Amino acid sequence: RPALSMHAMDGLVLEDVPLNAIADALGTPTWVMSAGTLRARYRRLATALAATGRPISIHFAVKANDHLAVLRVLAAEGAGADVVSGGELRRAMMAGIPAGKIVFSGVGKSLEEMRLALQAGIAQINVESAEELELISAVAEAEGLEARVALRINPDVDAGTHAKITTGLATNKFGIPYDRAVELYARAATLPGIRPVGLAMHIGSQIVRMQPYRTAYARLADLVRAIRARGLAVEVLDCGGGLGISYRDETEGAPEALAAAIHAELGDLGTRLAVEPGRWLAGPAGVLLSTVILRKQGYDDMPPFLVLDAAMNDLMRPSLYDAWHGIIPLSAATATAPVEQVHVVGPVCESGDTFGHDRTLPHMDAGSRLALLDCGAYGMVMSSTYNARPLAAQVMVDGTRWSVIRERQQVEDLWAADRIPDWVENTLL
Ligand code: LLP
Repeated sequence: RPALSMHAMDGLVLEDVPLNAIADALGTPTWVMSAGTLRARYRRLATALAATGRPISIHFAVKANDHLAVLRVLAAEGAGADVVSGGELRRAMMAGIPAGKIVFSGVGKSLEEMRLALQAGIAQINVESAEELELISAVAEAEGLEARVALRINPDVDAGTHAKITTGLATNKFGIPYDRAVELYARAATLPGIRPVGLAMHIGSQIVRMQPYRTAYARLADLVRAIRARGLAVEVLDCGGGLGISYRDETEGAPEALAAAIHAELGDLGTRLAVEPGRWLAGPAGVLLSTVILRKQGYDDMPPFLVLDAAMNDLMRPSLYDAWHGIIPLSAATATAPVEQVHVVGPVCESGDTFGHDRTLPHMDAGSRLALLDCGAYGMVMSSTYNARPLAAQVMVDGTRWSVIRERQQVEDLWAADRIPDWVENTLL
């Protein structure tokens, strides 16, 4: 993690900003994003994709991190966006990503969202079913607009990742069954308001081996040939996202290897190419700062619990996917303390509110601060206010500068939209 370093005086530093300075100013829990890491990773990906000789456009999967400042940093690098809701579409455009670089995926777009996408003139709508295709046709016709659609294909390929983030199996809700794709593409070409422009695929997330990609792309190439044999044009192939990062001891998915796989399987079809990475770009760029509220010794022969002020409502990934996130102290003195076995948990009233079982960490007392690593993707976007815990503050770091990019939510905000009906109030006394 090149942007993080440990200094004797300053402790853990992100880019050139001591994380203790941020925690002193704002308290914890606080999310911190490194703009420099986002840029560096975007550039590495763009360079790898460009090296194949055939242009491959990058559409950042906004679901991974939808903060306007994050999107703006990527927009300035030339990124497009992959969105899955009207809200994400509005966010991407607010951040300055041109509609012409936005693709819209998702199994259940509302008519309102379809209308918004068509009026904005986005690059392409990735259609996930025959039923949806008919709806888009009706909306486009009513609006007097033409929808550029790509059919998202379910290749029935196992991405070899966690069951909850695998999307390309026949049992998953995503995409159009492979054996119906050619027929549906032909139907799309006859529908009013629809122009089929290509095919899309996304087989899952946190993929670190290239073989599933290769298998899926080979199947995609076969489809392109079958569709063309029917006399229909295929202009663009959207290869999806999914490239994994190293949370623990996995070898990070290499963009160069992904580019090679795309090029090998799809490179000679003469189409435009696109990818939709989220995690790979944003994951390693973010940390979540937290403070140990107390050490709790449970049963004598068990490791103590470190109870943090961050919880599953902030970072949901460990409780939802048993995900592993690195944990390191912010202070250099603590970092060199003797190690011990601990359970790292949050204060929420669920056993699933656990960040790590049996972790080997330097001894930390109440008041010690630590960073949870690789939280830039699917971190703050998945937060909730469960247990009436206000959403944490967010900061962006760039070189020696840092700024608050979202204020910590106030507890009053939690009930600002609540209404107590008269009849409930009347029964009170
Ligand atoms: N494109 C589509 C159509 C997707 O559904 C996704 C992610 C992506 C692109 C981006 O995938 P990425 O490059 O980030 O792997 N919350 C889970 C991950 C859910 C991913 C959902 N789809 C997690 O925290 O692991």
